This record gives sequence, structure tokens and C-alpha cells, in this order.
Amino acid sequence: MLLRNKCIGVAVGITVCLSCFAGDTSEESLSEVRLATRIDSILKEKSDIFYGEFLAAQCASCHSKNENTGAIPIIHGQSKLDLTQALLEYQNELRTNAIMQSIAGALSDEDIGALALYFSKQ
Ligand code: HEC
Repeated sequence: MLLRNKCIGVAVGITVCLSCFAGDTSEESLSEVRLATRIDSILKEKSDIFYGEFLAAQCASCHSKNENTGAIPIIHGQSKLDLTQALLEYQNELRTNAIMQSIAGALSDEDIGALALYFSKQ
């Protein structure tokens, strides 16, 4: 009985601690933590470069390897980390651009990993 009460006490303690933590953490830094976790898990997965090449066809109408128009950045040759982070930031509305938000919004983690791998090797 004593042990059971102790267990309940510990459980309540943990719950209270967790809610304190959540209360102290702003919405933005929480989503940054989630973002960092997703970046990590995408980078750890083995991505398929050929799938990335296939998906990249839909990016080519805007992103050119050679032409820097100023408005549309060159994404070829950027690091896998930077590409993954940028796409997740558009997807999570931490970067605001209507076009890229809607494009990134339709991508799965697998798609993002494959695209980031493909463009990083260009
Ligand atoms: C209709 C045009 C268009 C298409 C199609 C498009 N993009 Fe973009 N992309 C843009 C524009 C415009 C920006 C700059 C947005 C901004 O200012 O944040 C951008 C920015 C980016 C960035 C950030 C680059 C940086 O240096 O900050 C990445 C990464 C990116 N796009 C990836 C992709 C990928 C991957 C695809 C295909 C799945 C794609 N884009 C398709 C227009 C497009």
C-alpha cells in the first residue's frame, strides 16, 4: 500500500513537472525542438537518390542550376542538412513563402530526404 502511494506520488510529480516545463516553453521553441527531432530522423534515414531525382522534376520549372534570378535561390549543391531544414521550415510555416509552403506541405519525410540528398549531390 505504501509502495503504491509512493508510485502514485512519483507519477503525479512527473506529470506536474511536465506541465511546468510545457508552460515555460513558448510555442515557437517547442516547434523548433520538434523540427530538430524531425531533421535528425530524416538525416539518419537512408534516402533514395533516384527517387529524389524523380521528385526533383517538379522543382526544375523554378529552380535552375545555373540561372540565379535573385527571386529563386539556387538549391543545387546546398548541404543535405540545409535543404532538409528549409523544406521543414516551409512545411511548418517557420519560413513564409506561399509557393514553397504549398510545395513543401505536400512532401513526406521520405520525399524531403530523397530531394535533399539529390540536390546536395548536384
Ligand atoms: C513555382 C516555383 C517553385 C517551385 C516549383 C519550387 N520552388 Fe523552391 N523556391 C521557390 C522560391 C520563389 C523560393 C524562395 C522563397 C523564399 O523567399 O523563401 C524557393 C526556395 C526554396 C528553398 C530554400 C532555398 C534557400 O536557399 O533558402 C528550397 C530548399 C526549395 N525552394 C526547394 C524546392 C524543392 C525541393 C522543390 C521541388 C519539390 C521546389 N523548391 C519547387 C520557388 C519554387
